[in-house]
Amino acid sequence: MAGFLDQIEPLKQAALAELRAAPDLAALEQARVNHLGSNGKFSALMKQLGALSKEEKPAAGKAINAAKVDLETALVQRRSELELKAALPLEPTDFTLPGRRRLVGKLHPLTQVTEDIVRSFRKIGFVVADGPEVEDEYHCFDALNTPADHPARDTQDTFYLQNAEAGAPPSTINSQPSTLLRTHTSSVQIRVMAQQQPPVRIIVPGRVYRRDNADATHNPTFHQVEGLYVDRNVTVGDLKGTVEFVFKELMGSETRIRFRPHYFSYTEPSFEIDFSSALTRKMGKEWLEIAGCGMVHPQVFENVGYDPELWTGWAFGFGIERIAMIRYGINDIRLFYENDVRFLKQF
Ligand code: DAH
Repeated sequence: MAGFLDQIEPLKQAALAELRAAPDLAALEQARVNHLGSNGKFSALMKQLGALSKEEKPAAGKAINAAKVDLETALVQRRSELELKAALPLEPTDFTLPGRRRLVGKLHPLTQVTEDIVRSFRKIGFVVADGPEVEDEYHCFDALNTPADHPARDTQDTFYLQNAEAGAPPSTINSQPSTLLRTHTSSVQIRVMAQQQPPVRIIVPGRVYRRDNADATHNPTFHQVEGLYVDRNVTVGDLKGTVEFVFKELMGSETRIRFRPHYFSYTEPSFEIDFSSALTRKMGKEWLEIAGCGMVHPQVFENVGYDPELWTGWAFGFGIERIAMIRYGINDIRLFYENDVRFLKQF
């Protein structure tokens, strides 16, 4: 009996030492199997209980159970320590380090310029109008007084779609109605005037398409802003004053505007607009061509059912990319479409 009791303490101490020293959960499990498992050393000792006499058994049983409780307590404690350790980060955290900033996105430079243009026109009572990018020849050309033999209508310049959409108004000149990608936003002038009576005061920002090869100044898709103003007694003076107001807002208060005679089939007289500012001088030029405009042609009014004796108006169209390029000093139009964040985050 004395021999049996003497065995308990050393076995318990050895088991405790191994459990407490286990470096990880796998080692702990191994220690548990070694000592408390069914073939473990402690279990072997318990099996010897049966061989003891009736008098010896209670004291021996009590001693061995107490030792077993100690071992199990040590096991549970070491396990929770190791589980906590496994859940902690490998590297200690330095809470004094600066936080990691989340990158905030930005509006594309073309969107920013478009919004600025729209904001300026809103101040003087214009509203934004919209029209389809997939257009028909009637709205893109015929109704704008652009004859069938005009070079803009050549398949070299315009993307035609193979199947004409059902419901598109047939061309008044060609017998075949053709669907195309609009080459300018001027088509929306027709759509708006056909829908409402004067007065009209709209601007139309939008995407247009041309069969150009991409280079530093051309791209098969780009953006325009169209403007249209129809009322009684509208003059070229109104046109020039309006354009001047908007360009001063966009390009700085010392911006100057110049009109040169030009030809567009939907305006008469027609002009090209040049502007001059610190920005153009930075590009080595006093004057830069920026837009086309003119007084709405009486035939266009006839085409939409307005009486040209009663109504007068002007229209203009300019390229948004060109304005953005001058404003930000960008020398290649293709940069706008590459979506390289190193470019985009500069604006
Ligand atoms: N549509 C012309 C272009 O794409 C620009 C333009 C010129 C629009 C004169 C107009 C205008 O409304 O009156 O080049």
